[in-house]
Amino acid sequence: MNAPAPGAPARAIAARVICAVIDEGRSLKAELARQLPALRDSRDRALVEAMCFEALRWRRPYEHALTQWMSRPLPARERRVHALLLAGLAQLHAMKLPPHAALSATAEAARLVGGGKLVGLVNALLRRATREALPVADSDAVRSSHPDWLHARLAADWPADAARILEANNTAAPMWLRVNARRGAREDYARQLEQAGIGHGLPGFPACAVRLDAQVSPTTLPGWSEGAVSVQDLSAQLAVLALAPTDGERVLDACAAPGGKTAHLVEAASGLQLLALDRDPDRLARVADSLARLGLDADVERKAADAADTPTWWDGRAFDAILLDAPCSATGIIRRQPDIKWHRREDDIGALARQQARLLDALWPTLRPGGRLLYATCSILREENAMQVEGFLSRTGDARALALPDAFGRAEGPGRQRLPGEGGGDGFFYALIGKQA
Ligand SMILES: C[S@@+](CC[C@H](N)C(=O)[O-])C[C@H]1O[C@@H](n2cnc3c(N)ncnc32)[C@H](O)[C@@H]1O
Repeated sequence: MNAPAPGAPARAIAARVICAVIDEGRSLKAELARQLPALRDSRDRALVEAMCFEALRWRRPYEHALTQWMSRPLPARERRVHALLLAGLAQLHAMKLPPHAALSATAEAARLVGGGKLVGLVNALLRRATREALPVADSDAVRSSHPDWLHARLAADWPADAARILEANNTAAPMWLRVNARRGAREDYARQLEQAGIGHGLPGFPACAVRLDAQVSPTTLPGWSEGAVSVQDLSAQLAVLALAPTDGERVLDACAAPGGKTAHLVEAASGLQLLALDRDPDRLARVADSLARLGLDADVERKAADAADTPTWWDGRAFDAILLDAPCSATGIIRRQPDIKWHRREDDIGALARQQARLLDALWPTLRPGGRLLYATCSILREENAMQVEGFLSRTGDARALALPDAFGRAEGPGRQRLPGEGGGDGFFYALIGKQA
């Protein structure tokens, strides 16, 4: 058999990843981690990543074009070729690759994914996409590439902002760093970035955040292996700042893995007695890895447990502060994980809200009178955010909403909300709840 055309193996891997995400429900991140090592050239790996992200971002308008352009859908056994077509349209439409770079390598890749008979069809459809604009769908959910239920929810929850949210969800997120306050000042680190020729900006708030002008591999950042910085979105950084731990406090990080905020807690105050819980032992192991790189692993106790099942992990000593970074729909981070749009189902939201309420109710007795709990999600749905906390406050006599400054986001019921893209950060919700002394 002849060697495959250059560029065809990368397209075939993109098709396999996209197919695994949309047909087998796999996570994009996990699938890329599994399949990318097959490619030796880092440019090929970057190309596959870009194809997969853009194909999953723009899946609905691409599916719409294919439906219009094909007399009948491909048979079920050709799902990888279908995914390859999405990758092909992503190259021409979102990535704007020149047709000569995209067409034959993508058509040839059909052979590599078991669709040898469809090389001509792939070629013809992609050629058509070079000549014609994508057909415009009547539905805004299709045009903006969101599932109907999510589009409707966003329109209902954010009537004045929905268009901006949909656009932000389809725009790649910038790379944000959090400077480890224990290792030096942000301005000193900014000088190191300058010396390394890494373009960046410093927001007014928070004082630990740095926005890079372009994505870089974290291991190439100055001081990475010494724990000078971590990669963490701006909005995620605000959760620990909202809780504002002070030196020596006894703190619970109830849903800690993979440990981004656990590390931030340890950086933000000295001598914390910090317990990091997560019910997923594999994810909890990653907390140890994050802390080890920062040289902070000795400072944190870790336990794999269901945080809501307090008899299994709580020793009865009350916490001064609790961070509940709750499991949620992750609708605020779609720009970083476009596969969320296709994995999440409308029914999930009610189930998640019940889980969040169960966590809030179970953790409350572990907080000392006068203590505070920060409820945070990377969701932008009211049911998981303002409505969730309003429900908790109404059934919990000794709980009060505490004020957070405007810099944390727009006032939203008892908390603060940031929408995706606002200030360059992800969508996030924070509510600080105090317990009466
Ligand atoms: C939003 S993520 C936490 C992110 C983490 N705080 C960080 O900053 O890296 C939610 C986490 O909650 C965990 N989780 C879900 N239900 C839980 C429960 N009942 N008890 C403890 N952890 C839970 C999940 O395993 C997941 O790791």
